[in-house]
Amino acid sequence: MQITILSLFPGMFAGPMQQSIVGRAISRKLLDMHVEDIRDHTRDRHRVVDDVPYGGGSGMVMKPEPVAAAIEWVRARRRLDRLFLLSPQGEPFRQATARRLAGLAGFGLLCGHYEGVDERVRSMVDGEISVGDFVLTGGEPAAWVIVDAVCRLIPGVLGNEQSSSEESFEQGLLEYPQYTRPRVFRGLTVPEVLLSGDHARIRRWRRQQSLIRTRARRPDLFCRLDLDAEDLKLLAEFSAAGTQGERR
Ligand SMILES: C[S@@+](CC[C@H](N)C(=O)[O-])C[C@H]1O[C@@H](n2cnc3c(N)ncnc32)[C@H](O)[C@@H]1O
Repeated sequence: MQITILSLFPGMFAGPMQQSIVGRAISRKLLDMHVEDIRDHTRDRHRVVDDVPYGGGSGMVMKPEPVAAAIEWVRARRRLDRLFLLSPQGEPFRQATARRLAGLAGFGLLCGHYEGVDERVRSMVDGEISVGDFVLTGGEPAAWVIVDAVCRLIPGVLGNEQSSSEESFEQGLLEYPQYTRPRVFRGLTVPEVLLSGDHARIRRWRRQQSLIRTRARRPDLFCRLDLDAEDLKLLAEFSAAGTQGERR
């Protein structure tokens, strides 16, 4: 898969591209990442990329010409099935978005800065993505969030493909609690069921934990779930046992 980023600050990606799972995916050639410096597409001596907003107001706006030239340059050389502008006004980024992007052969992310890009650049992209209801200084951290979330869904990147399909949001649920050794940590024990070796019981316990955790923490997700008979039974069993918190 090819991911292309257009940014005024390509240096912000240098470190992260060498680390952890994304770094390994790049070195194993499962992910081909390119960061294009928008400033390289200016035509003036001072390489100016921003200007004052028409109509007045504080801050600067990214000029359309270098952004447009950078987009045309990458479109001619890279696989860009879709190109997205990063914007707090965009479609909220979710796990389902990450899955959709992971199914493409290549996509691009355009990072804004300052007060954002000239509005006319929006006609050159296929959509806008927001990583949350807050305002970042620039699109670079948002781009990295998306690269990270998509990269781990590329086949072969995570050793165990099942691990990503069971995670939070994949089935509209938050993931169940996870434990590792030691069995007792500062007086806190691992739930007995996880030590039982009884895989059917463990599966039911995990499903129950996911359900009650989602209900408690994300009622917005919980109310959209299509609960089956087993789910209703697990919830009823939990209520009947008395609510002593999520973990038992
Ligand atoms: C300071 S912001 C501009 C915000 C813009 N003036 C507004 O109010 O909508 C600069 C750039 O950061 C990026 N950005 C900020 N918040 C973001 C978010 N929540 N999701 C994605 N990108 C974001 C965008 O690329 C944006 O052009």
